[in-house]
Amino acid sequence: MDIPHIPVLLNETINLYKNHMQDKGYFVDCTLGFGGHSEAILENFPNIKLIGIDQDKEAMEFAKKRLAKYANRVEFINKRASEALKDLKGLDISGILADIGVSSYQLDNKERGFTFDADTLDMRMNKEQKFSAYDVVNFYDRNQLEELFKKYAEEKHYRKIADVIIKNRPIKSNRELSDILHKAGIKDKKRLAPIFQAIRIEVNDELKELEKILKNAKNVSKNGTILGIITFHSLEDRIVKNQFKEWAKKCICPPDSFKCECGGNNQQGIILTKKPITPTKEEIKQNPRSRSAKLRAFKFLKEKNE
Ligand SMILES: C[S@@+](CC[C@H](N)C(=O)[O-])C[C@H]1O[C@@H](n2cnc3c(N)ncnc32)[C@H](O)[C@@H]1O
Repeated sequence: MDIPHIPVLLNETINLYKNHMQDKGYFVDCTLGFGGHSEAILENFPNIKLIGIDQDKEAMEFAKKRLAKYANRVEFINKRASEALKDLKGLDISGILADIGVSSYQLDNKERGFTFDADTLDMRMNKEQKFSAYDVVNFYDRNQLEELFKKYAEEKHYRKIADVIIKNRPIKSNRELSDILHKAGIKDKKRLAPIFQAIRIEVNDELKELEKILKNAKNVSKNGTILGIITFHSLEDRIVKNQFKEWAKKCICPPDSFKCECGGNNQQGIILTKKPITPTKEEIKQNPRSRSAKLRAFKFLKEKNE
């Protein structure tokens, strides 16, 4: 079986769960993809049942075949993770993982419209979603485009980029968009990639989705549930880091309050990774796409689900 995606931080992720997670109940893989992390979880935790979620039907069909030998321990849900998590309340969930972002298959398959030379402007992880990169590039107003490239691509020349896009509309494909940016002086792939990534984040609403995944993961967790999140973008990592810090606080009173009025018992659990776990040099060499990956983990400590 040719596997179109190499799981990132695989050993580190599995070791993390091995060190902290009990081999019982359910493990929820929010971003099943091609089943790499899920397969390793099933192998290493013989008593765990796994729920694999992905909004991409193609990835899910592949993962179903890959995990066929574990069929009696696996269930699949083809939905956005934040939505799917809502239905899992009450289950005995020992672990949750989200390996946020796109798979190599999505990135490399020209028809999915993520590559610089794709003949479409698409970038949807879920092909049933209507809103695509075409809408962002052709219909966003100047302010929206500027904001997008400034915030998500951290591009100094965000105004110029918005301007050339608007002047060259309609733009029908990634190839056309790449040519237009190339003519405007953005030739280096290292600069082009964050611009494309910014459009992709917008199309799939990835930052808001991450916030919802965190919130809903907390809602379905129980005493001892381990939550691991792998991100590939500094803004995503910041969301995870700040959320974990918030959950680890006993007192949630405003910083300027005189004395504690919240009761001081708001701690949801503990942060397992003081610093994010990042790939080794060897991993980056074997799989350059892993270079920006960061894994953070949290252990929920609570008596009952809220
Ligand atoms: C980086 S890949 C995961 C790869 C997987 N861990 C493996 O080992 O094969 C991300 C996958 O998650 C899916 N995905 C990303 N965000 C999602 C979300 N919010 N809800 C559901 N699926 C999502 C994508 O469609 C993609 O298939």
